[in-house]
Amino acid sequence: MSKKAIIFDLDGVIVDTAKYHYLAWRELAIQLGFDFTEAQNEQLKGVSRVRSLEILLDLGNVSLEEEEKTKLLIEKNNQYLEYIAEMDHSEILPGIDDLLHYLKLNKVPFSLGSASKNARLILETLELLDLFDAIVDGNDVSTAKPDPEVFLIAAQKLGVDPENCIVIEDAQAGIEAANKANMLSIGIGDEKVLQDANYILNDTSELTIDFIQKLID
Ligand code: BG6
Ligand code: MG
Repeated sequence: MSKKAIIFDLDGVIVDTAKYHYLAWRELAIQLGFDFTEAQNEQLKGVSRVRSLEILLDLGNVSLEEEEKTKLLIEKNNQYLEYIAEMDHSEILPGIDDLLHYLKLNKVPFSLGSASKNARLILETLELLDLFDAIVDGNDVSTAKPDPEVFLIAAQKLGVDPENCIVIEDAQAGIEAANKANMLSIGIGDEKVLQDANYILNDTSELTIDFIQKLID
C-alpha cells in the first residue's frame, strides 16, 4: 500500500476564520453602497484576495481604478487582521486539534494547502504551525484555486503522489482544485455547494479519526 498524505485547507477547515473574511468583505461592500449576502460569499471562499475583490465588485456592479482596488485590498486585510488578532484556541474547529496530533503521532504526513497569505501567522497564533510537514499558502503559488497548483506543490513537498493525497476543503473552488489534481476530496459544509466532492461532511466534528483512518488504511 502506498503512503497516503492529507492536505488541509485553512480557513473554514482548521479554523473558524471564514466568518471573518465574510465580515470584512461585507463591511467593504456596504461602504461601496451594496449589501453582500452569505450565499454570495460562497463564491469568495477559497479564492485569492485579489480575485475575491474582483468577484465582490462584479456582484455590486462597481468598477474601480487599480489604485483604488489596491487601497481596498489593504483596507480589507487590515480589518481581517484586527479580527484574527483576537483569535484563540477556541476557534480551532471541532476535532481538528485532536486529528492533527493523531496524524503526527502516527506519522501520517500532512500539509497545509491554503490560498491565504496570512496562513503562517494564523497557524503560529494557534500554535499549530510546527505540526505540519509542509506549508503551501497564497505566497507560494502563481495561480489560485480552482487551479490545482497549491495542492500539487503540497504533494511534491510531502513526497507523495497526488492520487495518494486526500484534500479537506470547505470551498467549491478548493474541491474543484483537488479534483483537478487527481486527489480524493472531502468537502466540509453545504452539500449543494460541495456536490463535486468525493465525500461531504456537515462540519469538522464528522471528520473523525475513524473516518480518516479508513481512508488511509
Ligand atoms: C482563503 C479564503 O483561504 O484565503 C478566502 O477562503 C481568502 O476567503 C483567501 O480570500 C485569501 O486569504 P488572505 O488571508 O490572503 O486574504
Ligand atoms: Mg477554506
